[in-house]
Amino acid sequence: MTYHLLSIHQFEIKEIFEIFNSIPIIKKHISVPISRLACSNKIIVNAFFEPSTRTSLSFASAMYRLGGNVITFNKEYSSINKGETFPDTIRTISSFGDILILRHPERGIMMKAIENSQIPIINAGDGDGEHPSQAILDLYTIYHKFGYEFQTKTILFVGDIKNSRTIHSLLELLHMFPSMKIYFLPFHNKFPTNIMINKVKQVHNQSDNLIFTFSNVKFDLFDIVYCTRNQTERESSWVMTDSIKHEKPDFIINNYFVNKLNDDCILLHPLPRNQELNDDVDSNHRSYFFKQMELGVEVRMAILEFVMNKNNKSLLDL
Ligand code: MLT
Repeated sequence: MTYHLLSIHQFEIKEIFEIFNSIPIIKKHISVPISRLACSNKIIVNAFFEPSTRTSLSFASAMYRLGGNVITFNKEYSSINKGETFPDTIRTISSFGDILILRHPERGIMMKAIENSQIPIINAGDGDGEHPSQAILDLYTIYHKFGYEFQTKTILFVGDIKNSRTIHSLLELLHMFPSMKIYFLPFHNKFPTNIMINKVKQVHNQSDNLIFTFSNVKFDLFDIVYCTRNQTERESSWVMTDSIKHEKPDFIINNYFVNKLNDDCILLHPLPRNQELNDDVDSNHRSYFFKQMELGVEVRMAILEFVMNKNNKSLLDL
């Protein structure tokens, strides 16, 4: 049966560490002549039905660095404009490559996609559902900073907790490490659901109040602050007007905020940022979001190989 990477729920802890531990080994393959790499005749199909910069390009860069090739589906110039259905599109593009990297605005659409795909699919974001490769990257960034001690750290999620698929996937991943502690500083109306709160309380054994407001943040409690933008496009009547583009967030994370955090606390953001993360923090030593972005290539190299291995293939065998 084909292994598709659709959700964080599919992982066991040992597989997460398998991916982390494979990264230094996989990086060595960058200097191997391409003709000797198993992946020199392999192709990923990048199909993004929703905008992307980092996820699409880091998967493409990862594949090229492994010695493979990338083709890109462009919705605007595709037969969708001639009435082609989603199943037919997936059937078609999946016959042109070896792994399909798929993003779509509809939560849960991956199940329909796998019914029609001839190759493994990696979920690169389904609406407000999941974004598993980003969660693995986020946790790897935390591990990169703290090593195995990350398992005892405390994280504050900031921003649009309700709609952020990167937070949804990362939360699921953190639930595998019950000694970590989790808190929220949500934007107005972007609160975690009761199900999310109860799961944190139960899994992480937290009985205190998990929700902070901007005026009562306990700055010295956190080792990691994970910020997201307002996911305005997830609101049902969304049209990107100029007023939405310039809509002010409820509060802004700037140096005034960040300098009150512990000295070795790290600030993460999956990017893109809007006004919620002021660029005065860019040179703050706690800012780790550009590092997080850079690590995306090596983490996705490891994820591509992981998915191929699960399908009894490899991109690396010489
Ligand atoms: C995503 O695709 O979810 C992004 O990486 C984060 C965002 O859009 O805010």
